[in-house]
Amino acid sequence: MIQLHDKQFVPFITATEIDAVVKRMAKEAEEDLEGEVPVFVGVLNGSFMVLSDFAKHYTKDCEINFVKMSSYEGTSTTGEVKQLLGLSQNLEGRSVVLIEDIVDTGHTIEALIQLFENKNVKQLKIATLFFKPEAYTKNIPLDYVGFEIPNKFIVGYGLDYDGLGRNLPEIYQLK
Ligand code: IMP
Ligand code: MG
Repeated sequence: MIQLHDKQFVPFITATEIDAVVKRMAKEAEEDLEGEVPVFVGVLNGSFMVLSDFAKHYTKDCEINFVKMSSYEGTSTTGEVKQLLGLSQNLEGRSVVLIEDIVDTGHTIEALIQLFENKNVKQLKIATLFFKPEAYTKNIPLDYVGFEIPNKFIVGYGLDYDGLGRNLPEIYQLK
């Protein structure tokens, strides 16, 4: 068990399990994107670890870039998603894979897709290491999903609780 701020977390998914799943996701993408030089776009901050491992398991040519989004969920149920760091690359005609740490309600992924709407990309795929189907409110299909998990808060492997826990190599679930 670990403690971050005021909350306790219990081990949930090991580093070995994560690695096998990220490798499987990279292989799926590699087969789909044969003949392309895709651009992997990581969504900061949470996706820094999954993007790193995904790219290492991807054995063909690829490019890497980042965007930064922040979702503010106040008292209302609709999350407002703010863009903090935009696309710094012309993606016209490119195959893009958005790489997320986790898709929860889907507000962030919806806002991200809007970011690509006028960019004339060839294709846009979505990869997420974690997906909470019970919390998902959108109809946007997800192309590469690592783990479907229950609607409980997790930390580790890039995911934080109020800034802490991102450096943990494995995943912990709120006790
Ligand atoms: P959304 O609800 O799909 O827009 O997810 C918004 C963001 O909330 C994600 O990108 C994460 O940064 C964060 N988030 C959602 N669920 C969790 C969790 O279980 N642990 C840590 N962060 C989470
Ligand atoms: Mg995130």
